[in-house]
Amino acid sequence: MPLDKLVERSARSAMTLSNLLRGSLIAVVLVTVLLVVFFAYSSSPFDLLPCSATRMEPQENFTCPDVCSGNISTFHLRTEEQNGPVVPKTPAGTKEPDTLLLMWFWPFGVAFEFPSCSELYNIQGCQFTADRNLYGKADGVLIHHRDIGGDLSNMPQTPRPVHQKWIWWNHESPTYSTNLPALNNLFNLTANYRRDADIFLPYGTLEEYNENGTFEIPKKDKLVCWIVSHWNPNHQRRHYYEELKNHINIDIYGRPFEKYVTDSDFPNLISSCKFYLSFENSVHVDYLSGKVYDPLQFGTVPVVLGPPRDNYEEHAPGDSFIHVEDFPTPKDLANRLLLLDKNETMYREYFNWRKAYKVKQHSFTLRTVCYACDHVRRFKGYKVFKNFNKWFWG
Ligand SMILES: *[C@@H]1O[C@H](CO)[C@@H](O)[C@H](O)[C@H]1NC(C)=O
Ligand SMILES: *[C@@H]1O[C@H](CO)[C@@H](O)[C@H](O)[C@H]1NC(C)=O
Ligand SMILES: *[C@@H]1O[C@H](CO)[C@@H](O)[C@H](O)[C@H]1NC(C)=O
Ligand SMILES: *[C@@H]1O[C@H](CO)[C@@H](O)[C@H](O)[C@H]1NC(C)=O
Ligand SMILES: *[C@@H]1O[C@H](CO)[C@@H](O)[C@H](O)[C@H]1NC(C)=O
Repeated sequence: MPLDKLVERSARSAMTLSNLLRGSLIAVVLVTVLLVVFFAYSSSPFDLLPCSATRMEPQENFTCPDVCSGNISTFHLRTEEQNGPVVPKTPAGTKEPDTLLLMWFWPFGVAFEFPSCSELYNIQGCQFTADRNLYGKADGVLIHHRDIGGDLSNMPQTPRPVHQKWIWWNHESPTYSTNLPALNNLFNLTANYRRDADIFLPYGTLEEYNENGTFEIPKKDKLVCWIVSHWNPNHQRRHYYEELKNHINIDIYGRPFEKYVTDSDFPNLISSCKFYLSFENSVHVDYLSGKVYDPLQFGTVPVVLGPPRDNYEEHAPGDSFIHVEDFPTPKDLANRLLLLDKNETMYREYFNWRKAYKVKQHSFTLRTVCYACDHVRRFKGYKVFKNFNKWFWG
């Protein structure tokens, strides 16, 4: 588990610095990154946070949410050449051969160590490789969308073994994913945040909470907060914010405002606000990012802007969040928040769900490879995905 966190944390931090990794600075920066990673990690309350589950999000022409494409295979992680199949412990007497999953691209060009799926998720019989020479032996090939070249020339070129499944893997919304028409009719399975994907990879889930009634609302000293890194004038959320701030005080953070929030400050900052603006960068079905799971996890009421309320309620209880569409205007929303600020009883009702559930945010990489392997292992039938592009991009 710590390794998982370290790997993901390292990937994120290394990627953030990628633009700095130039010429003779590389060595110095790498050492700094390692130290930062170590300290950030050692004090981090995050649980397997995926790359873009925090305030990071994709920018045009960036390979990874807000950051990226630093090559961390050059330090503590294994390079592709070293990545032979990882053989996890399998129970003695298991007859069925292991399932081999080939990682065609490292996501965003960043390597990570393959997990033991039996330890992490109680999934048995998985082997992983990033060695393309094993293409002919692989039961599944995991293909990360953002890394596919526009002309598809970096996709597998040799004929697909008859039993082999190609898995399309993507966590970004359609707005931030290039629609490549040539991908139609190419994949067998999808791995995505959408509930109708073959391999469902939500940013977070609400799981059973066993410590009955022990949840306490954290202390608050701010009313409404928002951490935003992608300050795009075309975003619907920005227009909403500009109007909302005329009616209620909003504490805004993020690089564009020279108020950068570090990973270690992040949970406490969110906890200290009564409400948090969980405004998605783009509006798509099932696209609920860490922006909504962070406040739910850290004891704050999310004010969501994204797909319709009904869709949110398919992921989280209806009384756990406030939807901007619940109000005819931003002013009406502001009035509601001001009322809730005054009436503690009404405010507390937004936390009733915490008696039953807790939030778990998911690892982008480790959960994906294990769940993909598990799917390929359990469903060996023929499966094609016609009209894939229409499904995702509409
Ligand atoms: C992204 O790339 C496209 C095409 O290369 C270019 O037109 C656009 O200005 C770029 N956007 C940014 C934010 O750099
Ligand atoms: C990462 O570094 C390794 C080893 O130096 C190199 O072989 C590989 O091509 C690099 N990958 C990318 C995506 O830059
Ligand atoms: C939680 O509390 C309720 C009401 O007091 C009780 O009925 C239930 O059994 C408790 N559940 C657990 C897991 O302790
Ligand atoms: C707070 O709201 C509750 C429920 O609507 C109401 O019964 C109570 O009188 C309100 N308290 C105050 C101080 O306004
Ligand atoms: C996977 O999809 C391809 C393209 O549609 C198809 O030709 C192939 O038969 C499928 N393979 C399996 C195992 O379903």
